[in-house]
Amino acid sequence: MLWTYLGAALLLLVIGLLGLNVLAALRRMREDTARAALDLARFQEELAILREKHRKVALEPLSWNGFRKFVVNRKTADGPGVCSFYLTPHDAKPLPAFKPGQYVTFRLPDARHGGQLIRCYSLSDHPAQPHYRVTIKRASTPDAAGAPVAGVCSSIFHDQIREGDILDLRAPLGHFTIEPTDPEPVVLIGSGIGITPIFSMLATLMHQQSRRTIWFFHGVRNSREHLFKAELAAFARANPQLHLRTCYSQPAPGDRLGEDYQVAGRVTLELLQRELPSNNFRFYYCGPGAMMEELTSGLKQWGVPDPHLHYEAFGALSVKRVGHVTAAPATPAAMRPLVTFHKTGTTVPWDGVHETLLDLAEHLGIGIASGCRAGNCGTCVLAMQSGEVSYLQPPGSPPEARTCLTCIAQPKGNVVLDA
Ligand SMILES: Cc1cc2nc3c(=O)[nH]c(=O)nc-3n(C[C@H](O)[C@H](O)[C@H](O)COP(=O)(O)OP(=O)(O)OC[C@H]3O[C@@H](n4cnc5c(N)ncnc54)[C@H](O)[C@@H]3O)c2cc1C
Ligand code: FES
Repeated sequence: MLWTYLGAALLLLVIGLLGLNVLAALRRMREDTARAALDLARFQEELAILREKHRKVALEPLSWNGFRKFVVNRKTADGPGVCSFYLTPHDAKPLPAFKPGQYVTFRLPDARHGGQLIRCYSLSDHPAQPHYRVTIKRASTPDAAGAPVAGVCSSIFHDQIREGDILDLRAPLGHFTIEPTDPEPVVLIGSGIGITPIFSMLATLMHQQSRRTIWFFHGVRNSREHLFKAELAAFARANPQLHLRTCYSQPAPGDRLGEDYQVAGRVTLELLQRELPSNNFRFYYCGPGAMMEELTSGLKQWGVPDPHLHYEAFGALSVKRVGHVTAAPATPAAMRPLVTFHKTGTTVPWDGVHETLLDLAEHLGIGIASGCRAGNCGTCVLAMQSGEVSYLQPPGSPPEARTCLTCIAQPKGNVVLDA
């Protein structure tokens, strides 16, 4: 009997101990679960913070839409008829970076005729600066009688825009850009005011301490018009991989060959062939139309492949890239697409002689406003009543549906435009 009681007591003890163990295990499990729940909550919280950060980054515009107000912080006279303007956002929010070679589009009120004036100006410094800089030459061309005709916007910039003024700017755009981290050797050529995007490219390469071999050909009349002279000389002193060749087309008395400039004459293909060790470079150039046309055809003949040629004109340029013309002039008239300018009641076959619909319209005397003539400012946009177009180069920002940027557009078939 005693043994029975003792056995039962022992059994109860074992059960009790087991129960305690189970309880302890359960408590540990509960604690573990609570800790895991806490960890999960923390993780979810961190995830939410990360998500929010990511959302902000995703929402952070790389640039901005439409026009944004900028203050002219500084205006400097850089040479005869050339001024630089240093611009910062009026809202004091961050200044978006740009790609060296891009330009901004200005909107100025047209005091003479009402409406607006739209002009593009290249950014003329590297993107790490706390401001945008544009460098503007006063445009002046003789009319048929030889009298100088002043350019409208460049005159406004020179004569009326002052430090403290507020200007409307569209975000930097443009495809004439250089990738600073690419390794290939480059030839940069800037002539006259065409140096602005080229200087931006060089300044960026210098700022990023690029190890690329760089040849820089600078075409300028003489020391009086030698833009960015001190900066260029400093770049060349500090960077042995930079070969600077300054070409004076009309040296002034007192200009020293070998000191102020290295070459008497213009930038020509013959000069490039003489100076460069080979044609195996990426070429970037901007300058007067005649120089660019000569260089483009010359470099192609020298064997430089089309994709290695990068150039920009500050207006219409007659350099044609391979494959630009969609309908050869020899195509029978009956087979050519028809272009109709609806408002003026004009229909003509697309003859392939004109590079763009804007060129064709101007040839026909149909007025279409234009600004950059490079598909970026949006000034030449027209509604399309029917038809489709293709673009010679991608527009800076895609136009709205059923509209087209006539300055870079060619018809893909019959097209009816609202002009
Ligand atoms: C992508 C891009 C980047 C640019 N970057 C720069 C830059 O960095 N710096 C710069 O200075 N410019 C630059 N330009 C050029 C600039 O946009 C303007 O075209 C230039 O300043 C002339 O504009 P404007 O209003 O002064 O002249 P407009 O009034 O538009 O006249 C254009 C030209 O025609 C001449 N003209 C006008 N009427 C007549 C007439 N009846 N007879 C004869 N000639 C006439 C004018 O003198 C002028 O030379 C750039 C252009 C583009 C497209
Ligand atoms: S003129 Fe600027 S987009 Fe056509």
